[in-house]
Amino acid sequence: MSLNTVAINQGMTRFDGHAEVWLFGYGSLIYKADFPFLARRPASISGWTRRFWQGSHDHRGTQEAPGRVATLAPAPGAVCHGMAYLVTPEEFAHLDYREKNGYLRLAICIAFDDGGSAEGLVYIAASDNAAFLGEAPDAAIAAQIAGASGPSGPNRDYLLALAQALRDMDKPDDHVFAIERHLARLG
Ligand code: SIN
Repeated sequence: MSLNTVAINQGMTRFDGHAEVWLFGYGSLIYKADFPFLARRPASISGWTRRFWQGSHDHRGTQEAPGRVATLAPAPGAVCHGMAYLVTPEEFAHLDYREKNGYLRLAICIAFDDGGSAEGLVYIAASDNAAFLGEAPDAAIAAQIAGASGPSGPNRDYLLALAQALRDMDKPDDHVFAIERHLARLG
């Protein structure tokens, strides 16, 4: 089952009237910026950790064989590294559509790696969304990813591109890298 979150997200008024909004990306938004942006800065958010716990029926899997993509799980004391983009509000029509399979916009404090911070938005797929899959052993997550593919391509490519982007940013992520190692063993 999937839930389309577009209408809910478009009802969010938190940044109404702002000419520019910072968006924090931690998954495919790190390596696939298919929208115009005014600035891009490596950044982090606190209290959340990246997990491949969200099902994907629309991008990296199908209804019959959902893939697994990144979401954030609450984790007091944790820091999640990613990429922040400064965008105009018009971009959220595309972004809401792209993230429609369970992700809700959340206002969050974004800390920039080169100093300073700003309040912005992040898309999070919480545990109560219809496509949420939740925790599983790394090997099982890798096996599911290996067998899934959707309109945006093989699920494996999502994981590998994210792992490479995090490596390029020098921001290792144990969870992502462990799944990457299991995927490599699966061939
Ligand atoms: C994100 O990248 O910030 C959200 C999850 C995704 O689109 O992969």
